[in-house]
Amino acid sequence: MPNAQGQERKPQIVAISGAGSGIGQALALHFAQQNWQVILIGRRLEALQTTASLCREIVSSAKLLCCPLDLSSADAQSQAENWLRQNGILSLDALINNAGQFVRGDTLSADLADWMRMFEVNTLGPLRLTRACYPLLKINRGAILNISSTLGLKATVDTVAYSASKAALNNWAQAFAVQAARDGVRVNTICPGLVDTPIHGFHKAADKAQTLEQLRNLQPLGRIGRPEDLTSLAFALCSAGSEWTTGAVVNIDGGIHLV
Ligand SMILES: NC(=O)c1ccc[n+]([C@@H]2O[C@H](COP(=O)([O-])OP(=O)(O)OC[C@H]3O[C@@H](n4cnc5c(N)ncnc54)[C@H](OP(=O)(O)O)[C@@H]3O)[C@@H](O)[C@H]2O)c1
Repeated sequence: MPNAQGQERKPQIVAISGAGSGIGQALALHFAQQNWQVILIGRRLEALQTTASLCREIVSSAKLLCCPLDLSSADAQSQAENWLRQNGILSLDALINNAGQFVRGDTLSADLADWMRMFEVNTLGPLRLTRACYPLLKINRGAILNISSTLGLKATVDTVAYSASKAALNNWAQAFAVQAARDGVRVNTICPGLVDTPIHGFHKAADKAQTLEQLRNLQPLGRIGRPEDLTSLAFALCSAGSEWTTGAVVNIDGGIHLV
């Protein structure tokens, strides 16, 4: 697209983890619609390719790249760095740390392996990807957005490992927001409430309608979320219009954090 001087403007580039389903897929579609180039990251290449096809159905010229990567692996940072180099990505405008996993369990019964997995994926995954992308984000004074959870702010008995991994993410994000501000890079966090995505067992269950009805009654705004409920604010936080916003932790949750 030409700018005011008639020069061709370089498309902005966002890397989104967990882009093969749920919230990450909705984010990819939204950014593609805004003419951003999107790097789709996740473990399953097929799922990333499905998201890429959906983006192209909406924007036939969409620029999309699929990066299969397991963010829980110890060498995920170097794998991401190599992939970015091999694919000629020289700068980034935004990184969305969205990939995540969920597990139930209380303090006395939760499996320690589940604790490890939650921290590997939900806390260290964003850290590894951020370290890989940071030199490229610095070039464009870009933005980092973490998709955390209401459960990272509000204690519940039976989601302790997940909640603790997201609480750690929130705290790290604010510490890093101060450090990254020196480079003009912003770091913000969205805490979604209950959103209908494959992360929940009920998503494909036969009794989904009944479950949703029960959950609906707990939500101050009267329904659970859809992935699209998050995309506008996520896009705004990654865009130049939010250039004075960093370290924010924003609930988008139908009001559930209030009750
Ligand atoms: N849905 C909700 O109610 C809700 C509420 C609060 C917060 N969140 C957060 O929102 C984010 C997105 O979740 P979602 O609800 O959209 O669920 P989802 O559809 O299950 O998406 C999670 C994505 O993360 C990817 N992923 C998981 N482990 C990974 C790993 N080790 N390496 C790379 N990618 C990995 C998955 O793709 P692969 O399997 O292909 O890797 C998947 O696409 C998560 O961080 C979740 O904690 C969700």
